[in-house]
Amino acid sequence: MKAVILAGGFGTRLRPLTLEIPKPIVPVFDRPFLYYQIDLLRQVPDIDEVILSLNFRPERIEARVGDGAEAGLPVRYRVEPHPLGTGGAIKFASRGVRDTLLVVNGDVLTDIDLNAVVARHRERRALATVVLTPVDNPSAYGLVETDADGNVRRFLEKPGPNEITCDTINAGIYLLEPATFDRIPDDTAWSIERQYFPSLVARGETFVAHVDRGYWIDIGTPASYVRAHRDLMAGRCAAGPFRGKPPGTVHRGAGCRVAPGADLSGPCFVGDGCIVEEGARIGGESVIGPGCTIGPRAVIERSIVWGHSALGADAVVRDAILGEACRVGDGAEVGAGCVLGSRSTLSAHSRA
Ligand code: GDD
Ligand code: MG
Repeated sequence: MKAVILAGGFGTRLRPLTLEIPKPIVPVFDRPFLYYQIDLLRQVPDIDEVILSLNFRPERIEARVGDGAEAGLPVRYRVEPHPLGTGGAIKFASRGVRDTLLVVNGDVLTDIDLNAVVARHRERRALATVVLTPVDNPSAYGLVETDADGNVRRFLEKPGPNEITCDTINAGIYLLEPATFDRIPDDTAWSIERQYFPSLVARGETFVAHVDRGYWIDIGTPASYVRAHRDLMAGRCAAGPFRGKPPGTVHRGAGCRVAPGADLSGPCFVGDGCIVEEGARIGGESVIGPGCTIGPRAVIERSIVWGHSALGADAVVRDAILGEACRVGDGAEVGAGCVLGSRSTLSAHSRA
């Protein structure tokens, strides 16, 4: 079975983090986000290849992910000549595939049992199966109504406030039969959510819902990106480096040098080769990517700092996100809600 990961979006809501690096390879702890999805796909023994559906910055993704050896499954690339929308992208990416296709939106983090979804799709001989997750406010998602037998009765993308009739939304994970793709035109932007799914309902085709009440998040905004890290560190999502670890674990990567007088509170993540100097304080729910230097008495609280950044003496970073190779000068402070793009520099004693 082939899996398609839809990873062609621009990641605009994650700017400035996604100005230099596309969303699929934004790091979660110290691995590209995409690798967490490939970890999930590896549960399904039938999946023998991942097709990455791309259009924005494909070269950056290819350079990082290569043939998939590090990720653990063979990876192939399909780069659209221009954005084809989710439906057009799936058809373009899966050209030549005849068997059932597993499709995942490139920005969802979950620990769902994919084998159960595959089993449901086969049992029901469905033309399409969509995973649903309950959320408090469906307006930013695809609302999906089902009947008592678990068939999809309505698929409404981005419902207005008066159109919300249930709490189950499209989790961005599908099993699809490529034989149904003849309705998707070639070379035209076409939406799986706004066109293909409603067409299945309109034609009365077997379109099945699989509700999963486990962990699920779309990491497409800075707030949900931070949230995902906190949830992984707290064990709310069984994935990543904290999986199966006791609560409050301090993860220290290989080759870290932590001064005896530095204070690290769990749960936190300190990547490979970091240097944490005397008196520095790294508070719980902080994530520091590989190769960072945290100066004497510097403080990091509830923040995410990408690799190769440096904080000077007495610098403070609270409730913020710093991209790669940032420089925070001595005594400078980065405050709540700040998101600094890669290579940002804050001179000594500045406040952001
Ligand atoms: N290759 C390709 N080409 N990929 C695309 C394109 C395209 O033209 N457009 C979007 N994508 C990819 C994005 O990179 C992302 O991984 C996925 O398709 C979904 O696009 P988003 O832009 O993140 O959509 P959304 O979050 O507003 O809504 C979607 O996801 C929700 C769950 O997170 C929809 O599928 C909703 O129905 C769903 O509830
Ligand atoms: Mg999304």
